[in-house]
Amino acid sequence: MSRRSIREFTSEPVARDLLHRIVTAGIWAPSGLNNQPWRFVLIRDRGTMDRLARLTTYAHIIEQAPAVIVVYLDRTAMYNPVKDYQSAGACIQNMLLAAEELGLGAVWLGQILQNREQVNALLQLADSLELMAVVAVGHPAHRNHKSQRNPFATFILQEIGGPQE
Ligand SMILES: Cc1cc2nc3c(=O)[nH]c(=O)nc-3n(C[C@H](O)[C@H](O)[C@H](O)COP(=O)(O)O)c2cc1C
Repeated sequence: MSRRSIREFTSEPVARDLLHRIVTAGIWAPSGLNNQPWRFVLIRDRGTMDRLARLTTYAHIIEQAPAVIVVYLDRTAMYNPVKDYQSAGACIQNMLLAAEELGLGAVWLGQILQNREQVNALLQLADSLELMAVVAVGHPAHRNHKSQRNPFATFILQEIGGPQE
């Protein structure tokens, strides 16, 4: 619950080891049949990140971030679209939580999926790799972010059985 999307970063670089620890947390997400369909491109090169930034309306976030992790599903490793997409979500959430635990901040960027073909072209990746998200990572400029959730009861369809307390 203390994790927040971090969209403003200091200029401090993110060490390669930290980036690898975040991705390792992603790799340890559950997946159907343990098929591990996720693949990653790790970018800390300013020029590449600036070109990537041009492919989303959230350019300012990528331009500010010292690192991004581009998350893919390998279609050749997939076995069931719904379950493989769910696995990608679990993987990305694991990475967001790992970033938080390491004292870093991160945000899941999905708007860029609108330009998935250009992203693959920029990164010279085959169509068999399906873009899932870009995760921007860095040292948070601040931690003042607030977020909200609808009331608990909104989400509970039924509660069946068990003691009431
Ligand atoms: C599938 C998905 C796509 C998202 N895409 C974007 C995005 O393109 N730009 C952005 O700033 N935040 C994006 N977010 C972050 C959400 O805006 C954020 O998680 C939500 O507002 C709740 O805030 P919190 O993460 O701080 O709890 C995305 C989150 C998800 C799960």
